[in-house]
Amino acid sequence: MAETKKLMRALAGEVQKVPPVWLMRQAGRYLPEYRATRAQAGDFLTLCYTPDLAAEVTLQPIRRYGFDASILFADILLIPDALGADLWFVTGEGPRLSTITSQGDFDALKPADAIHEHLSPVYETVRILSRELPAETTLIGFAGAPWTVATYMIAGRGTPDQGPAHALKDGNRPLFEALMERITAATIEYLSAQIEAGAETVKLFDSWAGSLKGQDFQDFALEPAKRIIAEIKARHPGVPVIAFPREAGENYIGFAKATGADCVAIDNSVQAQWAAEFVQVDGCVQGNLDPKLMVTGGQQLIDETRRIVAEFSKGPHIFNLGHGITPDADPENVHVMLEALRG
Ligand code: CP3
Repeated sequence: MAETKKLMRALAGEVQKVPPVWLMRQAGRYLPEYRATRAQAGDFLTLCYTPDLAAEVTLQPIRRYGFDASILFADILLIPDALGADLWFVTGEGPRLSTITSQGDFDALKPADAIHEHLSPVYETVRILSRELPAETTLIGFAGAPWTVATYMIAGRGTPDQGPAHALKDGNRPLFEALMERITAATIEYLSAQIEAGAETVKLFDSWAGSLKGQDFQDFALEPAKRIIAEIKARHPGVPVIAFPREAGENYIGFAKATGADCVAIDNSVQAQWAAEFVQVDGCVQGNLDPKLMVTGGQQLIDETRRIVAEFSKGPHIFNLGHGITPDADPENVHVMLEALRG
């Protein structure tokens, strides 16, 4: 059967006059209906682990905006949680985890193939979504890339410069590599299970890839992505993968070819014109509107949307932001963007 879903067609390399569109963090606090369901769940992790509610918040932005893709509602930190690290969220601050800084901390983690029982509610959410999504909407599964997940596991929280993870990488390389290996193996297991439950494509979020320089980028951003993608493709031939090595800069060039990714998502610190020339030559790109424009709106939002579509018009493109939509975004501005794109 010929592929009819716009997002899947872009991932297969098709150039479309109106690109498919979805937004990172499209289910989130800028939407009043998300805040209501979140309040009903009580806390963020309960929301992630309650399939009916997680499916509900995943569907909310689809009902409101008719995006071409729906991203599973979950979090990249569910992997550390499933590996046995303690995880909690402090309102207004962000995630907190028990830290992994010694061999003893590492030895207390579960093996990679022991994550499934803990994560089974997430797989159930995927099954619900694959039944309930409109026929034209692609279901995207996801995981954090090993380096980004490791930065949270090592520091026990988000950090501005990923200092603790760099310190472990440089100070205790065997322990750091063992942790990267455990996360990589767990990520392969997790993404495979999402695909088996109905995810049609998967995205690997390496939010902190930009802090890896030189050989470190090759070893800890590119190599793990390559391994994960090769294993996903061996287990699930034909399932496309989107990679997001955020703030990779020059390292975006050749990333798709080197890792086997079908699409590279780019952040808004690089110019669309540059990315079209040097990244889109290898295939589909996703991005890269500045999320701030969803707060400020107006003619600038319309102009920038049209400019990005025009810059990427010669190759396969998925329209998105350069990073997640923020809680202070105006839901009306999403309609303004969609009108500029599709109207
Ligand atoms: O709509 C979607 O994009 C799907 C769900 C999704 C969430 N997080 C929900 C979420 C996805 C794909 C993520 C990815 C994620 N989570 C990343 C990678 C992408 C990025 O933003 O760089 C990272 C680094 C995390 C870790 C994380 N989760 C942090 C640092 C925080 C706190 C900061 C914040 O934005 O509040 C979260 C919480 C989180 N994850 C929220 C949502 C909707 C907000 C939680 C709430 O309702 O209070």
